[in-house]
Amino acid sequence: MDLFEKCYSYTRADEVKAAGYYPYFRAIEANEGPVVRIEGRDIIMAGSNNYLGLTAHPKVRDAAIDAIRKYGTGCSGSRYLTGTLDLHIRLEEKLADFLGKESVLLFSTGYQTAQGIIPTLVSKGEYIISDKDNHACIVAANMMAKGGFAEFKRYKHNDMNDLERVLKSVPADAPKLVASDGVFSTTGEIVDLPKLNELCKKYNARILIDDAHSTGVIGKGGRGTPSEFGLVKEIDMVMGTFSKTFASLGGFVGGDKAVINYLKHHSPALIFSASPTPASVAAADAALDILIAEPERIASLISNAEKMRNGFREMGFRVIDSRTAIVPVVLGEDDVVFVFWRKLFDAGIFVNAFISPGVPPGMAMLRTSFMATHKDEHLNRILEVFGDIGKEMGIIK
Ligand SMILES: Cc1ncc(COP(=O)(O)O)c(C=O)c1O
Repeated sequence: MDLFEKCYSYTRADEVKAAGYYPYFRAIEANEGPVVRIEGRDIIMAGSNNYLGLTAHPKVRDAAIDAIRKYGTGCSGSRYLTGTLDLHIRLEEKLADFLGKESVLLFSTGYQTAQGIIPTLVSKGEYIISDKDNHACIVAANMMAKGGFAEFKRYKHNDMNDLERVLKSVPADAPKLVASDGVFSTTGEIVDLPKLNELCKKYNARILIDDAHSTGVIGKGGRGTPSEFGLVKEIDMVMGTFSKTFASLGGFVGGDKAVINYLKHHSPALIFSASPTPASVAAADAALDILIAEPERIASLISNAEKMRNGFREMGFRVIDSRTAIVPVVLGEDDVVFVFWRKLFDAGIFVNAFISPGVPPGMAMLRTSFMATHKDEHLNRILEVFGDIGKEMGIIK
């Protein structure tokens, strides 16, 4: 059979498109944060990871433009060779200070950061132990480590009894890394870090936390999950991304100097890929300055998400509980999600449709997420429209 046969016979996306319910790859024509333009209409954005609304901030935009003027549009090389700018080093130092880590290393995306850490550190005879619901970049990195003959184990989502079962099953003297999202990207739930840390210390495992949805959202001044639980020193490595609160593109990992130095000299994802562009780094740097100088943005973000969580729940929707910017409204079946999504879109609201296999069967959801820059008028309108559609479709009373 031809390799491409699966592509020629793949019709699901076209069928959903033909029915008018296709929610993906919608082109945004202008973006000011809470309101974007799609197909010539102003749409309230309730699905972005631009949590602090900084993509539209004049200082962030100016920083990117100034960096292009000074350094050009690309680095044309990897960090290892010709792609390190003083901008990269400055941001690494600032982030290390912010996160309370000895050193930080930048990567070109968050996805690549996981590829740069896990298979580099965990090899033959060593164990990577991962939460079942970790982000796809950790899953892919685990597979890569497994391909390099590392041992790979999973534990039930955020279930610390199950983590202990797995840790107990592994030879006591084997080197091991436990990896978990800090805030889980689909549900917005927060990892049980105190227990995870306790178990890792008991069984002598190192810890990697992916704080992509946590930095700038939870913890003291937005310092992420370790800070939220007062465990900054105890967590060995924290990784993150610039594609969410940092209003840019790129990834980072913070940890001990020796570990970061090792990654710098051994990580293929770093050594064989071009470094983040001057504009990306400068924008993230400016966003970090604003995050530190204006903690009230985080307070607005959290209170906006809380208002929406309560609002959806009071109307009778099934909402997954959390304290983060992500507010998932579970509708159950994929088709219900597509129809609800389309009705929202027609009414001028954009959210993310998550269907199986991305979520377990029966858990299809509209993943809403909020920004510090949403105003009450945006949030009230979203609640009103959700209520109308929910009633019309018989989902709420
Ligand atoms: C938990 C988590 N980790 C990593 C990433 C990847 O980040 P990036 O967009 O920088 O590749 C994401 C992005 O969706 C994420 O949700």
